[in-house]
Amino acid sequence: MAEQITPPLDLKPLSDPPADLKSRMKASYDAIAPKYNEWTIPHSTTRLHYLDQLLGRLPTTASSPSAPVSVLELGCGCGVPVTQKLLSYPNFSVTANDLSSAQLALARASLLPDPPGPAHGRLTLLEGDMLALDFPPATFDAVVGMYSIIHLPRAEQVEMLHKIVAWLKPGGWMLANFAAEELAGSEVQNWLEEEKGWMFWSGWGSERTLEKAKEAGLEVVVQETVEDAVDAKFLWILARKSDS
Ligand SMILES: C[S@@+](CC[C@H](N)C(=O)[O-])C[C@H]1O[C@@H](n2cnc3c(N)ncnc32)[C@H](O)[C@@H]1O
Repeated sequence: MAEQITPPLDLKPLSDPPADLKSRMKASYDAIAPKYNEWTIPHSTTRLHYLDQLLGRLPTTASSPSAPVSVLELGCGCGVPVTQKLLSYPNFSVTANDLSSAQLALARASLLPDPPGPAHGRLTLLEGDMLALDFPPATFDAVVGMYSIIHLPRAEQVEMLHKIVAWLKPGGWMLANFAAEELAGSEVQNWLEEEKGWMFWSGWGSERTLEKAKEAGLEVVVQETVEDAVDAKFLWILARKSDS
């Protein structure tokens, strides 16, 4: 499967992330949110393909109408199409997090319209750094992070995996993508928009990411590398926390 979703990147190595990484990232997504969404939403085949694989493992209304399903989405962006699809199942409740207030405002406008639509009461929007989130152990049936955990420094990605495992119920699922190539840290000055689109990505590469997911307590069920563009390869992981 190949899907062109990332334009050519002029990546510059940046192994030490700046101290103000999170505020710079928030400012960038606040500025480029409309452009990013306009560019990326039409290219959602890969996201929806893996989301379907997750949904096939959860009690959806067709399989089990009354079982409540609780999902955490990290870096949900504007909520289209992934949060929206999760909410299309009436037994699903979604906690959707993002660093960017602009992205969350767009998510609120489309998913929580006035007058109230079918998602009202089942969607909680949480603004802030995903690493600073705090939930009781075993809160969620699934945690989803699409193109978002890659924005954390890679040491934080390991912390994030451990938090995800703690927040999952026994037998719960994680669906996320990571950099397939090792990337100690990289920045780009003008991603999608001149003067506005400073960006940072990092990753351990496929092999070490899989090791770290297993060390965190996940059993990896699907591991696939997808080339989004000539210079952007992602490892998609669907993994399960053990039952005990
Ligand atoms: C590439 S977009 C992906 C959005 C959406 N998941 C999608 O697939 O289109 C990355 C999103 O992650 C958010 N983000 C970046 N760093 C974050 C952090 N530390 N905590 C929470 N969200 C973050 C950004 O604001 C942005 O909306």
